[in-house]
Amino acid sequence: MSDSLEVTGPVGVVGAGRMGAAMAGRLRSAGVDVVLWNRSVDRAQAVAAATGARVAGTAREAAEAGPVVLVSLADDAACRAAYAGPDGVAAGAGPDTVVADTSTVAPQTSIDLAALVREGEGGAMLDTPVSGSVPVVERGELTIMAGGDAADLDRARPVLELLAKQIFHVGDHGAGATMKLAVNALVHALNQAVAEALVLAERSGVDRAAAYEVFAGSVAGGPFVQYKRAAFERPEETPVAFRLGLVAKDLDLILDLAARAGAPMPQAVTNRRAVADAVAAGLGDEDMSAVARYLRGHS
Ligand SMILES: NC(=O)c1ccc[n+]([C@@H]2O[C@H](COP(=O)([O-])OP(=O)(O)OC[C@H]3O[C@@H](n4cnc5c(N)ncnc54)[C@H](OP(=O)(O)O)[C@@H]3O)[C@@H](O)[C@H]2O)c1
Repeated sequence: MSDSLEVTGPVGVVGAGRMGAAMAGRLRSAGVDVVLWNRSVDRAQAVAAATGARVAGTAREAAEAGPVVLVSLADDAACRAAYAGPDGVAAGAGPDTVVADTSTVAPQTSIDLAALVREGEGGAMLDTPVSGSVPVVERGELTIMAGGDAADLDRARPVLELLAKQIFHVGDHGAGATMKLAVNALVHALNQAVAEALVLAERSGVDRAAAYEVFAGSVAGGPFVQYKRAAFERPEETPVAFRLGLVAKDLDLILDLAARAGAPMPQAVTNRRAVADAVAAGLGDEDMSAVARYLRGHS
């Protein structure tokens, strides 16, 4: 990991949702000056009060703050809205600025936003989506999949290395977004599989914790199974890390990409239906592990 001294100047952070807030907190813990913007100002103010970040009045102001700007927003529409217009990210990102966008969006959105930033004030943009949730950000152990210019990535590296233990440069604009969707196809399949297997064991008379203990010790007990243990075992006391509504968004993006690429994904089609049912039942703001709750009939 880089020393925080290598971070030159403040870092703009656009988005104070679960991930943006955790990123701002992690940077502040490393002594980095953070200028934070969020659409709902109360959320930005709460993060600022907790971390000592400064609140920006517009996304443009956050983008003007320093040579590296991090973006973490819900989806494609949120990113397009926050980048565009006179108060947007593109208007604030000058020739010395690199915007590293950690949101999970369609590859074409990353390509379009990179062009918007370049054609605006001459800034550079990278798609740098992340794998790992809030606690992983807090430990600085994310995995980043980067798309864009290698020299731009090197400029953003001192900031990204405070958040990530691994940074993969996978290609040009959109390649990071593509890899993120491929990784999440796997993660969301695991999530559904764990939920189904757990409810199978419970319904057949095995205690939930005992069943999970066996999962964790089995050949299937990889990092995801370990890391979601508290969420699956004790959902009522475990904070939401990744909400189910965003899983539904990811599966839409994954299947759209699959259709364009001609890649058959029958399991993801079934998974999207299962997640959509859970969201329709009112679980969209619950953690992704709440698919188990849905399978239990909301118990
Ligand atoms: N949570 C995770 O574990 C995780 C892990 C890896 C990747 N991701 C990805 O990281 C991104 C952020 O996830 P999150 O969990 O932090 O989401 P979240 O807690 O739901 O936060 C969403 C953020 O997007 C903003 N937003 C939504 N619509 C907007 C719009 N139209 N214009 C401007 N801002 C808008 C929200 O602002 P308001 O406060 O104003 O609503 C908030 O700052 C997503 O793309 C997600 O897929 C998440």
